[in-house]
Amino acid sequence: MAAQYSFVMKNMSKTFPGASKPVLNNINLQFYPDAKIGIVGPNGTGKSTLMKIMAGIDTEFTGEAWPGENITVGYLAQEPQLDESKTVKENVMDGVRPVADMIDRFNEISMLMGDPPADADFDALMEEMGSLQEKLMRLMAGHSIAIWNWRWRRCAVRRVTAL
Ligand SMILES: Nc1ncnc2c1ncn2[C@@H]1O[C@H](COP(=O)(O)OP(=O)(O)OP(=O)(O)O)[C@@H](O)[C@H]1O
Ligand SMILES: [Mg+2]
Repeated sequence: MAAQYSFVMKNMSKTFPGASKPVLNNINLQFYPDAKIGIVGPNGTGKSTLMKIMAGIDTEFTGEAWPGENITVGYLAQEPQLDESKTVKENVMDGVRPVADMIDRFNEISMLMGDPPADADFDALMEEMGSLQEKLMRLMAGHSIAIWNWRWRRCAVRRVTAL
């Protein structure tokens, strides 16, 4: 049986508009689950460009790049943009907002079931709850890979790796 890689890149090349040659040329990568991988190279050789492609932020390349089944990719930018009007906790919560919203809604439905209003649609609530539970279980079962640049800030790392 073929190995289940957490990420695969095949014959990937990247040329910025106006550049005379590709910054990344014919890259082939396969990462095993739980592998810890560092990308090392002189300044300007394309490390950040590679990570942006892996994160799905830069889609302008030739070749192929895809994460494995149930793999999510977290990306911490070299110069992370945090909201300075918010606390560290609020910044971290922004990173996990979609999941936090699902948990809040799950709990809200549980409360409604315990003390239902007269016009409660139980079938709809049960169906929504089941769907939320399935999504949350899938997220917890799936592996996540987080990629980041060398010059990181603690708060931004927490934002990406909070799950
Ligand atoms: N948006 C862009 N438009 C044009 N050229 C770019 C763009 N982003 C990066 N480059 C160029 O592509 C090359 C690779 O840049 P990249 O930022 O990926 O390098 P890096 O290895 O991460 O460098 P560093 O070690 O300084 O972080 C550099 O020559 C850079 O000037
Ligand atoms: Mg870089």
